[in-house]
Order: sequence, then structure tokens, then C-alpha cells
Amino acid sequence: MHRVAISSTGLFTPPEVITNEELVEAFNQYAALENAKYASEIEAGTRAALVNSSVEFIEKASGIKRRYVMEKSGVLDPRRMRPVFTPRPDNELSLMAEIAVKAAQDALAAAGKTAADVDMVICASANMQRAYPAMAVEIQTALGVQGFGFDMNVACSSATFGLEMAYNAVRSGGARSVLMVNPEITSAHLAWKDRDCHFIFGDVCTAVLVERLDLAPAGSFEVLGTKALSTFSNNIRNNFGFMSRAEDRDPDERDQLFRQEGRKVFKEVCPMAAEHIEQHLGTFGYKPDDVRRFWLHQANLSMNQFITRKLLGRDASLDDAPVILDEFANTASAGSIIAFHRHQADIQPGEVGVICSFGAGYSIGSVVVKKL
Ligand SMILES: CC(C)(COP(=O)(O)OP(=O)(O)OC[C@H]1O[C@@H](n2cnc3c(N)ncnc32)[C@H](O)[C@@H]1OP(=O)(O)O)[C@@H](O)C(=O)NCCC(=O)NCCS
Repeated sequence: MHRVAISSTGLFTPPEVITNEELVEAFNQYAALENAKYASEIEAGTRAALVNSSVEFIEKASGIKRRYVMEKSGVLDPRRMRPVFTPRPDNELSLMAEIAVKAAQDALAAAGKTAADVDMVICASANMQRAYPAMAVEIQTALGVQGFGFDMNVACSSATFGLEMAYNAVRSGGARSVLMVNPEITSAHLAWKDRDCHFIFGDVCTAVLVERLDLAPAGSFEVLGTKALSTFSNNIRNNFGFMSRAEDRDPDERDQLFRQEGRKVFKEVCPMAAEHIEQHLGTFGYKPDDVRRFWLHQANLSMNQFITRKLLGRDASLDDAPVILDEFANTASAGSIIAFHRHQADIQPGEVGVICSFGAGYSIGSVVVKKL
């Protein structure tokens, strides 16, 4: 068995920003239009009026202040409420592959490596742009990587489950080096017309280069181990799929987009995540207090505060558990990787950290790393 390291990470940040103020203004315009359209039903009591969204609620309930998106004009058009993407011909790089290639190139440059050093590409994301050919194969070929690639989806845990796959491939000798990318165009499957969740998501792409430790550059993080857990729940769900067409479904129907029972998710997932991290650390003889930094999934600020309080027995500082969701919102699988990408330069040799994500499935994935 080989020792394994995270050599580098990469980040692609989309070109456009939507602030909470802009988002709420667009939603409230949409609500006014809908309420005017259905005024007689609302008056007759056969239809409920849409209620306004509020910036204060969003910041208090989630900690999110803004989000990046690939395209904002369509999202903020109260008569549309979804991004505008132009279909690309098959001989052009698809949008998800394009942002994944950018993040991957960022990661390769940071490690001083090229496509020739990589044997495998994993595209791990909460949603794929198409069924086939695999996004990973398109990304692999665009980068000039030999070997092979495949797609995987475990919703918000896709990246940590992807790191588990990468770790095992490198550890067993199946690959010298794996590029694991997380293109998340969440704006295309978010229900922007639903006040309960219209503020939750943002777009982004992250990349992680996982290599045999003897090939990794100085200053890498050794991967001590990975741990994945899943148990079925309907509390975060998106029913869109290839059967939708045969079911004569409208792509805008509520269950064809992201939906969740937010309160239940909060209550059920937080204790599971804390227990999972504690158990994982225990397998190396570590306690939560031994951890220099937790790079947690970025869905909701209170969730992360709850989990770290349970682990540490005190309120965690931003130094213990950095927050990026104020700037990026929930970026599905990419959140914990953005936190790691942005907040790891000050970690000292020998210090230990945990990357952990949690979400639909339910699924929880953790990666324990040690700075070399
Ligand atoms: C989604 C989430 C932020 C909502 O926060 P919450 O405190 O649970 O809020 P609730 O949905 O219970 O709503 C509370 C009240 O605010 C209202 N509200 C909801 N959205 C609102 C909005 N955009 N603006 C103003 N008020 C809003 C609700 O109608 C409700 O009103 P009521 O008390 O009169 O019924 C929170 O549940 C959460 O973070 N859950 C899980 C984490 C997650 O996002 N997971 C994603 C996948 S990992």
C-alpha cells in the first residue's frame, strides 16, 4: 500500500454575483406578479398568496450574504427565475466541463504538475449536465490526461466520497495521481421561485489533486484516511431524471428541482455528522481537541456551529472552522473543498485537520489529513 497525499487544490469562481438584496427584490417582484395573476382565487380563498422574502431572514437563518452564479439575468428576471444558458454544439466543451477544466488547471499549476502526471479523473458533483458520455471523460480529454475517468454523484457529499475513491485508487497502486473535480452549477436545479430555499445555493467548481506521497510536492497534506456513511432519507430530494419525459413532467414542476425539509435535515444530520467525525478521528487515536482545523460542508452557519460545539464542547472560532458560505452560499459538494482551498496555508507541519461534508442521501464523508 502506498502513502497518499493531497498535493493541491484549485478553484474556479463564476463571473457573476447575486447579493441577497438583488435576490429578494427579484423574488418579491415575482410574488407580486403571481399574486396579481391569481388575484381572484386569492380573494376567494382558493389559493394562498405568495409571501415576500427578506434579506434579514436569509442572513439570520443561513449566514449567506451572496452567491456566485454562471448567469444572473435569467435568475433575476421575475418572469423567468432560472438562468439563461445557450445550448452548445457537441463539438464544443460543455459548460460543466469548461469550469472543471479551469479548476483542474488551477490545481495542477499549484502543484507544479501537468496532465502527464495524472492517471485518472473523477467528476464528483450533485448534478450532471447530461447522462453520457461521462463529464469526467470530456474533462480528461480536454486536459490531455491519459488513463480513464468516471462520474459520481452523492449530492453534497460527492467531493468527500470522490476523495475516498481517489485515496483508495492511489493507495492500492491503481493510479499514481487522481484529479477529482466538483463542477456545481446549482443555479440550474435550484427552485428560485420557492421562498423557503431560493437563497440557498451558488455555482462554483473545485478540484483536488490526490497523489502518491512520494510524488507529491513539499508542503502537501498526507491523507491519513477517509470514511463514508450513507442512510436513505427523503428529506433532501430532486426527482428530475430520464423518466421525467415518460412521466410527461414539466421541468419546472416543484419535485423536478431541489427541495428539502430544512428543519428535519438540520435536526437529523448535525448529530450524525458530529458522531461520524468523532468516530473517524478515534480510529487514529485522535480526539476532536487534537484537530487544528475543521473544513466543513457549507450549507448553513448554524449547522456548522452546532457540529463544532458538539465536537469541541465550546463555541468554535472561525480559525477552528472557517466559513465561506457567506460569500459562496451552499455550493453543494464543493463547499468543504473551498474552505480547505482558502484556509490551509497557515497549517503547520504535523498538524491534523478534517474535511467533512454531509447532505442528501443522507450521506456523510470525512477525510483526515496531516500537514507534511
Ligand atoms: C433552510 C433553512 C435555512 C431554513 O431555516 P429555518 O429556520 O429552518 O426556517 P423555516 O423554514 O422553519 O422557516 C421559518 C419561518 O421563516 C419563514 N421563511 C422561510 N423562508 C423565508 C424567506 N426567504 N424570507 C422570509 N421568511 C421566510 C417561514 O415561512 C417560517 O415562517 P413561520 O414561522 O411563520 O412558519 C434551515 O432549515 C437549514 O439550513 N436547513 C438545512 C440545511 C440545508 O440547507 N441543507 C441543504 C442541503 S445539505
